[in-house]
Amino acid sequence: GGAERTRITVVGTGYLGATHAICMAILGYDVLGVDVDPGKVDRLAHGDVPFFEPGLPEKLAEAQATGRIRFTTDFDEAADFGEVHFICVGTPQKPDSYAADLRYVQSAVRELASRIHGDALIVGKSTVPVGTAADLAELADEVSPEDARIEVAWNPEFLREGFAVDDTLHPDRLVFGVASERAEATLRDVFSPIVDEGVPVLVTDIPTAELVKVAANSFLATKISYINAMAEVCEATGADVDSLSAALGLDDRIGSRFLKPGLGFGGGCLPKDIRAFRARAEELGVGDAVAFLAEVDAINIRRRTRTVDLIRELVGGDLSGKRVAALGAAFKPNSDDVRDAPALDVARLLYLEGAHVTVYDPEANANAHRAYPDLDYAESLDGAVVDADVVALLTEWSEFREASPEALEQAGAHPRMVDARDVLDQEAYVAAGWEFRALGRPAPQ
Ligand code: UGA
Repeated sequence: GGAERTRITVVGTGYLGATHAICMAILGYDVLGVDVDPGKVDRLAHGDVPFFEPGLPEKLAEAQATGRIRFTTDFDEAADFGEVHFICVGTPQKPDSYAADLRYVQSAVRELASRIHGDALIVGKSTVPVGTAADLAELADEVSPEDARIEVAWNPEFLREGFAVDDTLHPDRLVFGVASERAEATLRDVFSPIVDEGVPVLVTDIPTAELVKVAANSFLATKISYINAMAEVCEATGADVDSLSAALGLDDRIGSRFLKPGLGFGGGCLPKDIRAFRARAEELGVGDAVAFLAEVDAINIRRRTRTVDLIRELVGGDLSGKRVAALGAAFKPNSDDVRDAPALDVARLLYLEGAHVTVYDPEANANAHRAYPDLDYAESLDGAVVDADVVALLTEWSEFREASPEALEQAGAHPRMVDARDVLDQEAYVAAGWEFRALGRPAPQ
């Protein structure tokens, strides 16, 4: 099929782009990955994935062995090479507002379109405010040479960090936002190896495709904040949010996934997506429709201050001079990503109250250190808990779940634990003589 013919460029080689480029090469396409960062390009070209993603380095090696993938910083080469150009650059939150910063998508489209001759399809995958694709199509039109015939389509990406390869090769669904049958046909062709496995395809107009992504992430964020709101109520009543969640989740209509209470959501997507959605809805005059997302955000942030409250209580009401072992920095386990990480935010708040905070994360120490150089970092779990007045589990890595209270005490921790992810065996800690508190759960008697 199309695998032999279509040449694909992927602009942006971060999480999304590198994964997409590598998976497309695995599926048999000739792929050129493009990035403005020569460091990233160089590392990828040498078979080195510049971030932590289980399974991706092996897939890169596999793709490189076929000779079907290359990386470049050269947009002339990219425009010349690709028949289909995927845009996978970031859309971070603007520093001074909730809106998405579109400068990278705009510049990717400008750099490419100004060099394209003949037919080309530009397919956006980045998460963008609804209406962005139309603006980008206009931009492409403005900057492209006379003989260029460029069409824009949107194909949102739903991959999760930690499952990036699997989510890309075996997605729940594919959404093709298109303005023509030709664009639809091209996308069906490019994704045929995946479509042929029975993955549902939804063909929509472009605004709907842009919206699906933010609507999905908003729903997921809302589900998490819902159970965390229930955790607040549980805390006031002596009820147990874990049992509550289990009971709710058994109703098929509710479902148990994304109903895990704890320190809440973070990362490069959910927090900024709900904020950008609010900003965009306000611009469109429908801010009221998603005003609830401000509450979703606020509930999520309150879990952090609540965690600090529990830690402060366990050390007698004043954090200054107290030693806290902060277990975890990444926004979730099996990731080295500390963007908007609840764990690091708690560590920062503790530090601001004068605590000596020692952070340990199995993968994210380096990124955390770059973000917060003032905190102390330990090379190991044992190193982090030496002399700790209190231990706080902030990211639920299996290393922390599996550690025994006895081993932590032997490593030098005072027996006080705050489990901000509700993953530890409370009874085992209590039996071992620990003072133990978990978010949304009653204090042991
Ligand atoms: C999320 C979405 O799940 C993906 O579908 C989406 O494609 C991606 O954002 C994106 O927009 O690119 P990701 O950020 O990798 O993926 O992380 P998730 O596994 O979804 O977790 C998000 C956060 O929610 C984490 O901080 C996690 O700890 C938290 N969470 C998740 C909970 O607190 N409780 C839960 O029950 C589930």
